Amino acid sequence: MDGNGRWAKRRGLPRTEGHTAGENNLAEVVRVCATRNVGWLTVFGFSTENWVRPPAEVKHILSLHKRLFGRIEELNANNIRIQWIGRPFDEPGSKTPAFIQRAIQQAIDDTAHNTGMVLTVAFDYGSRAELLRAAQHARAQQHSGLDITSQEITNNLYSPELPPVDVVVRTSGESRISNFLLWQIMGSKVYFTERTWPDFDAHEIDNALKLVHAN
Ligand code: IPE
Ligand code: MG
Repeated sequence: MDGNGRWAKRRGLPRTEGHTAGENNLAEVVRVCATRNVGWLTVFGFSTENWVRPPAEVKHILSLHKRLFGRIEELNANNIRIQWIGRPFDEPGSKTPAFIQRAIQQAIDDTAHNTGMVLTVAFDYGSRAELLRAAQHARAQQHSGLDITSQEITNNLYSPELPPVDVVVRTSGESRISNFLLWQIMGSKVYFTERTWPDFDAHEIDNALKLVHAN
């Protein structure tokens, strides 16, 4: 969900206002995706690399994740199940504070019964960290001395149930791939847009979804 800072800068607002607008927009995007019968929506909320940002900005982004995982009524009203991917809390290097851990666990528990769209939020997530861990776990499970298979890597991802990605969305004019779902996006379409994340609207969602069905 890139471009919150630029969105704020253009309006002469502090970056934190951009993140707040971005979180509000996520709630709207989630609602629209559910009406479009999207089965799986996975969003990059905070990366393993984002911790080096100024402490006040990190603090603000953390508070927004508490808000986002607290939107349980809305999620239940739309039959949405929430999930999380990121560095497991009990692993070395995990930096997720306890209040975010609790918000994540609560949201997962309170929406577990829903049968509609699965919203997966990546927090303290990095694709390389995910893949390294998957390879290490796959190796530890080896009994036969055979080579690790790609199925075994898939089985050891943070969320093995996450299906292959149909379309990746890159907002705010970025034309590069980031450290996001690198294993899962093989063969995926990519939708590039100049819009910053807070301005990513229903029309943009429909454009991205059109790509899924295009050749
Ligand atoms: C995305 O917006 C939010 C996070 C990465 C947490 P940015 O903060 O990256 O916004 P820009 O790239 O500075 O515009
Ligand atoms: Mg950015």
